[in-house]
Amino acid sequence: MVSVAVGRPEARTQATVQREDARAELRALAVSAGLSVVGDLAVRRERPDPALFIGSGKVIELGEQMHALGAGVAVFDVALSPVQQRNLERELGAYALDRTGLILDIFSQRAKSREGRLQVELARQEHLATRLVRGWSHLERQRGGLGKTGGPGEKQIELDRRLIGVRVKHLRAQLKTLHKQRRTQRRARVRRNVFNVSLVGYTNAGKSTLFNALTGAKAYAADQLFATLDTTSRRCFISPECEVVLSDTVGFIRGLPHELVAAFKSTLEESVDADLLLHVVDAASPARATQMAEVQRVLSEIGADTVPQLVVFNKIDQIERVPAVQRDPCASMIAVYVSARSGAGFDLLRAQIAAAIRASCNEPAQAADAALAIPISLTA
Ligand code: GTP
Repeated sequence: MVSVAVGRPEARTQATVQREDARAELRALAVSAGLSVVGDLAVRRERPDPALFIGSGKVIELGEQMHALGAGVAVFDVALSPVQQRNLERELGAYALDRTGLILDIFSQRAKSREGRLQVELARQEHLATRLVRGWSHLERQRGGLGKTGGPGEKQIELDRRLIGVRVKHLRAQLKTLHKQRRTQRRARVRRNVFNVSLVGYTNAGKSTLFNALTGAKAYAADQLFATLDTTSRRCFISPECEVVLSDTVGFIRGLPHELVAAFKSTLEESVDADLLLHVVDAASPARATQMAEVQRVLSEIGADTVPQLVVFNKIDQIERVPAVQRDPCASMIAVYVSARSGAGFDLLRAQIAAAIRASCNEPAQAADAALAIPISLTA
């Protein structure tokens, strides 16, 4: 794993804490992609090298280290340009991946449903298209310098772009059809007057574990990032007389590659149509405040920030906290502390969901106000 601190020395020191979080997350992503991390290389640079990002001296050092460790992939905690990636792979004789590359790889390994697979394929193709476009303008510049027009490289790129364009169009059409089907199913649920609750939250917060515990289902829960890519819905009883449809959704992550945000928008949009969002937070994570802010940012991007929300601080068994309900100063309920693993706090959570259902039936305006009042800086 190669971590690069870019900038002047004083700025680099200030950013150390965030960089440590980012590094830990990159390591988790690498493990989730099925890689084992065998070595680390820290690099400091005032500015990135345009051809190799880390500079030729460091590439030699990295190559030697990888050779000695028998490593076949170098994972970078910075965004590599297509040219840098290609040059690094050539120099190292191994794969060079950055965060986006890793996330795309995980998503393609995990997608199970037809919709999930189509979404990942769309993201990959779009990612590929941006790389070709950039390569293309690079070629164009070269051509301008040489005073030539055309050439075999240019023709190939043009052909590749056209093929990708056709594929993207085809994938979008298929997804649109599936999206319509989902919408119809959702409308049917609304007509049946079912209360919809969606679990949202940063990847690895414990959404699937909570979903399984509440519904008695067997959704895939694992200590991996993005274990769940498809939305799974199930009916469950919150109390003997109160039934809801609970949906587990794809996890959020800081700086999700924009191709993936676009591709997963339709899946995430399910949250917009929910009557209540359970925002699951890993209360034991030191990065929980940033993670919550990121989730809120994406929720407002997809227009789901006006849906009533209940914050669920999960994994309290790891921080030795007792189950509790925390209210904001206006006395609207804001957060419940639970352990999805042990079931501690479930009675409180169920009671709060039931209260939200009552609020939505009797006082919709108040329910919406409560959602807007949630302070995202709240800490566990
Ligand atoms: P994505 O699919 O990546 O979005 O993850 P998720 O939010 O669905 O998380 P998941 O349920 O897969 O849980 C992630 C890890 O946290 C698993 O190893 C769980 O066993 C663990 N976990 C979940 N809830 C708890 C909890 O209450 N306590 C502890 N100690 N671990 C938990």
